Amino acid sequence: MAQQEQLPGLQLTRAVTALPSADQARRGVISTLRKRLGFAKPLLEALFSIEARVAEAWVSGAHHRLFLAQWGIFPVPEFFDHKIGLYWMWKARRSPHGVERGVFSLLALAPGCKALELCCGDGFNAHFFYSIRVGSMLSVDFDPKAIAHARKHFRAENVTYEIADIRTQMPHGVFDNIVWDAAIEHFTEQEIAEIMGNIKTRLTPTGILSGFTIVERADGKKMLPHHEYEFKSKDDLARFFRPHFRNVKVFETIYPDRHNLYFWASDGVVPFMDEWKYATN
Ligand SMILES: C[S@@+](CC[C@H](N)C(=O)[O-])C[C@H]1O[C@@H](n2cnc3c(N)ncnc32)[C@H](O)[C@@H]1O
Repeated sequence: MAQQEQLPGLQLTRAVTALPSADQARRGVISTLRKRLGFAKPLLEALFSIEARVAEAWVSGAHHRLFLAQWGIFPVPEFFDHKIGLYWMWKARRSPHGVERGVFSLLALAPGCKALELCCGDGFNAHFFYSIRVGSMLSVDFDPKAIAHARKHFRAENVTYEIADIRTQMPHGVFDNIVWDAAIEHFTEQEIAEIMGNIKTRLTPTGILSGFTIVERADGKKMLPHHEYEFKSKDDLARFFRPHFRNVKVFETIYPDRHNLYFWASDGVVPFMDEWKYATN
């Protein structure tokens, strides 16, 4: 763009051309390259697609081997490395339930909320699902290995990982959301009842407790040796929330290898109630 500038004392007028900013110049170069590289697109696509398939096979195989080492040899861990699910198990078993819990709890999180995650395990869900929405999240687990793993693999500026046994060291503070995924079954009925009271006193008046657990197998065999109490049905799980919360929603998803239960509990609005502002009625 040219403009007229009056130079003091010289009584001269000259045209000044505004130079493009560094950002404009960079965008110009990129735009030119995008047009000029058109001739090489089929070759580059073919090349990178071969690379992606080789990398996929390698990363999947590596995570399968990691799974065999972690779960095939005793002692088995109490938490699951969800990268195994992401890179190997999801495709190998065609089972999407590993992502359900993150999605369903995410529905209960209001943008910018202050959240507490109980029994966070490897930190995968805090990072891949919750950190995008929360203002802050405190994620706790009593296993130092789980917390070390989470800090190493799933660092996010708004998530803090701490060691705490929630039977005796429930974090203090008041939270808009408490997430308790894949862990309520690791406690006895008596412990669940006590922890539920502690959860209630840490939630805001409209705060939401959300999470996931499983229904026990038909043959009565425990899904994991660490499980203390596996639930019989949706109602069997809901009975722990009803004394504390006005609105309780428990729902299930059923797969050939497992029967999942999800829950939202609150004195305020839970997802898909008529008043829930993120959906039409
Ligand atoms: C199956 S893992 C679930 C981890 C994670 N929430 C997820 O969805 O993948 C159960 C977790 O509960 C933790 N846990 C069990 N008892 C606990 C307790 N008393 N206090 C804190 N964490 C506990 C275990 O260490 C483990 O990481």
